[in-house]
This record gives sequence, structure tokens and C-alpha cells, in this order.
Amino acid sequence: MDEWKNKEPGESGQTEQKKQEKLEPEQQASAGPQLEAAFFNEVKEVDGKAVIANPENIMALVNKQFSLPADYKPQDLVRPNIPFSFGEQDIEKSYVRKEAAAALEKMFAAAKTEQIHLFAVSGYRSYDRQQEIMNNQIAKAGSFEKATESVAPPGQSEHQTGLAMDISAESVQFDLLQSFETTKEGQWLANHAHKYGFILRYPKDKENVTKYMYEPWHFRYVGVRMAEEMFQHGWTLEEYFHEVEKI
Ligand code: DAL
Ligand code: ZN
Repeated sequence: MDEWKNKEPGESGQTEQKKQEKLEPEQQASAGPQLEAAFFNEVKEVDGKAVIANPENIMALVNKQFSLPADYKPQDLVRPNIPFSFGEQDIEKSYVRKEAAAALEKMFAAAKTEQIHLFAVSGYRSYDRQQEIMNNQIAKAGSFEKATESVAPPGQSEHQTGLAMDISAESVQFDLLQSFETTKEGQWLANHAHKYGFILRYPKDKENVTKYMYEPWHFRYVGVRMAEEMFQHGWTLEEYFHEVEKI
């Protein structure tokens, strides 16, 4: 049993309430468990798999337990006005959802004022593109099990939500490496991304919670209030929703 589960008594049963309700901003400001329940995935079972019925939810918990529908594509994808590692090319991975795009623009601009030059590497990915990436990783790693330590199976990648962005810097040749954590860009992101609504989704030492290796480059938009709360408590999205150890 994880320690955090016992930290806030009186919450049992809250995650049973899976319906998403619209909360007014003032309710959001004071809500605790209600807010968690309000934003938790609506789930339907398809072929024994838990599939997210409201994938447009900004707080969607997408992981090895909860899948997106294969045909889900966000309707509000836009190309943020930020530097990309691949320049001006207008390609699928340069897109993210509108709200995340505005937040990325703000974050990249704020970093720049501190001489931190960030580069976006990979945003939205379709189910089919994730399948290709997975096939490549299986060929490289030797097995599906090994591949899923670092790459999500199709339908289970946050990149399909259009709310995730992989971010790098020239100092690591725009690559996605764990050594990004030692760069000034990686450190700036780890310490400031929450102010713009992003969480470092796969933290170090939380591999047994997220079921993915540490990714200092992968940032997930959840909105400022939620990101601040998760940052302050040191929670992953699984911990926020008390969804640990169910995978
Ligand atoms: N690398 C992350 C887990 C993904 O493939 O979505
Ligand atoms: Zn990523």
C-alpha cells in the first residue's frame, strides 16, 4: 500500500464516482476529493480493456491501465508558435491542443527571457504513428515487454491526447536523453513547467507508479491549478487520482 493513500483520510469511495461534472471556478478552488472525482476518466470496457469514454478531458489519465479509443483525434489541434527541433516543417508531431499550445507559447517565451532556449520535439501522435514507434522499439529492444519500459503501446500514449510535448535543447543535440536533467534547460523545465500548467509526467524514482522509465523531456498539460497542486505534493497523475498499483 502506498503511503500517500493514507495521508488524507475520509476519501474512500470518492474515486467510485466516475462521472465527470462541470464545476464552476470557485468550486474548483475549494474542491479536494470532489475535484479529483470530477476529472477522473469516464471508463467503458471494450474487449476486457478500460477505454476512456471522455478522451477530451484535460485531466485524462492515459497509461497502461486506461486506453484512448483507437480513432480518437483531438478536434482542436494547432501548431504552437515555438521553436521546433525540426525547424519550420508543418508535420503531425508539431501539433497540440489549443489550450496546451497557448501554455507552451507562454512557457517558451518565459524561458527565453531567462536565456533558456527550449525546442519542442514531439507533440500529437496518432494511434497509427504510435504503432510504428512501438514496432521500431520492439525491433530495437528485442521484446514487447522491454519496449514498453520506454514507449507506450498504441492507444496508451499521452501523445495521442494532444496534451503532451517532448522538449529538448541544443545542449543535448535536440535529443530525448536522460542527461537532459542535468542541463539548464531541463532543470528550468523541472522547476517552472507547473506554473504554465505542465507536469513532468514520468519522474525519476516513480517508475513503479507510472510504469515508465524516467523521461525528463516529457511534459503533460493538465492546467495551472492541477499542475501546481501536483508539483507541490510531488504527485504523478496516477497518485493524484489514487490509481496506483492497479496496473
Ligand atoms: N514515451 C512515452 C511513454 C510514450 O510513448 O507515450
Ligand atoms: Zn513524450
